[in-house]
Amino acid sequence: MKEFPINFLWGGATAANQLEGAWNEDGKGPSTNDMYTGGSHTIARRITPILEPDTFYPNHEGIDFYHRYKEDIALFAEMGFKVFRLSIAWSRIFPNGDDEQPNEKGLQFYDDVLDELKKYNIEPLVTISHYELPFNLVQKYDGWKNRKLIEFYNRYAQTLYIRYKDKVKYWLTFNEINSAMVTLGAYASLGMILDEKENTEAVRIQALHHQFVASAKAVKMGHQINPDFKIGCMIAYLDMQPLTCDPADVLLTQHMDQIQNMLCGDVQVRGFYPAYAKRYYDEHNVELVMEAEDEQILKEGCVDFYTFSYYMSNCVSANPQNEQTGGNLLGGIKNPYLKATDWGWQIDPIGLRWTLNHLYDRYHIPLMVVENGLGAVDTFEPDGSINDDYRIDYLRQHIEQMKEAIQDGVDLMGYTTWGPIDLVSAGTGEMKKRYGFIYVDKHDDGSGTLDRSKKKSFYWYKKVIESNGKEL
Ligand code: BG6
Repeated sequence: MKEFPINFLWGGATAANQLEGAWNEDGKGPSTNDMYTGGSHTIARRITPILEPDTFYPNHEGIDFYHRYKEDIALFAEMGFKVFRLSIAWSRIFPNGDDEQPNEKGLQFYDDVLDELKKYNIEPLVTISHYELPFNLVQKYDGWKNRKLIEFYNRYAQTLYIRYKDKVKYWLTFNEINSAMVTLGAYASLGMILDEKENTEAVRIQALHHQFVASAKAVKMGHQINPDFKIGCMIAYLDMQPLTCDPADVLLTQHMDQIQNMLCGDVQVRGFYPAYAKRYYDEHNVELVMEAEDEQILKEGCVDFYTFSYYMSNCVSANPQNEQTGGNLLGGIKNPYLKATDWGWQIDPIGLRWTLNHLYDRYHIPLMVVENGLGAVDTFEPDGSINDDYRIDYLRQHIEQMKEAIQDGVDLMGYTTWGPIDLVSAGTGEMKKRYGFIYVDKHDDGSGTLDRSKKKSFYWYKKVIESNGKEL
């Protein structure tokens, strides 16, 4: 029976804007996330282009990783991490995005973080752009709507590749690039204002095309700078099942899977737009503007591996009357067989095995699950313990299904749980929605000592890694 490969990359995943804080230190420019107020499950975060004096901005301090990375990395090392997924804050390197020269202090910070990881033999997996761009690119250029962004992104990517050539092997060009297909992605991923009338689906798809070109160029350039680089894509995989066996439900599920999940991977792995995209674009008034060289660029910039986030699954029905449920980026129809988290994300470990098989059958390149986890409210007991058995259960069940998928023949390189340390939620801006093995004393009103404490899951994950997935 096949087990996890000996060199399996166990670890955790984060994003700069959700944990670093130090939003305006050492020359960093404001980023899209610095403009987000706090929010909750029921109240949406606001984007304030001009900072309001008495408003709380959770990403400004994050969990202060910027000043505490040594302590945090030591804790990851204690759990036995083989890999740590981090992103680089673009506006720490190029404060305005369109600067000619990078900010040395920003580059030095990541040198220090990477050196610290190296000390413990933890392999970095770097996301070049994780839901964050310099705010100036929003104001001055309208984000990715503007083709100029390709040039700025590639200058930024080149700077990172050259500087960290001998420190980083694994790179991801864009986090959850397919979020451009949903309204929320307009600001978070594309840096355009959240106005459905102005930034219609057609506009977002054009902006996404610019990201595809930028990504493909970055893949090609990375391989030229260091042929040992492995550069991947990252997709938010929203697993979907037909609610019933009505052929209309089955067909709609296939269609939604193609558009929401597969389209971006198809372009980034295969190097061209899939056939089904044409009809969709024709029917949705998308007239894609492509430069003469774009097809060639896409062809020459295919990724080396495919990574994705997996949290839940939803049902699809041709009948919109069915009960809805929440989700990451996109909601869906409630599945009567599944339980959901407090945030309405349906828990479906078997769906992960299905997804791994689905993706591997299609692409035949190594896969990696780079986000998976349970957002929950944790209780800090009077004796200092945090007994997050629900998180252990969630992760255990998903790891079991990864093991099954490996036995099915899937080439799975690694697994990084989302938020190994509590951090600011991307969707809601809350701290209350915790994912970590490490508890951070920080709350939604901004209070807290920022002290770190180990949860029960900390000891559990340590054992999982030590036994290479045998002891679950
Ligand atoms: C993914 C993002 O969509 O989901 C992360 O890549 C995010 O940045 C994670 O934090 C969990 O979502 P949330 O809204 O619970 O933070």
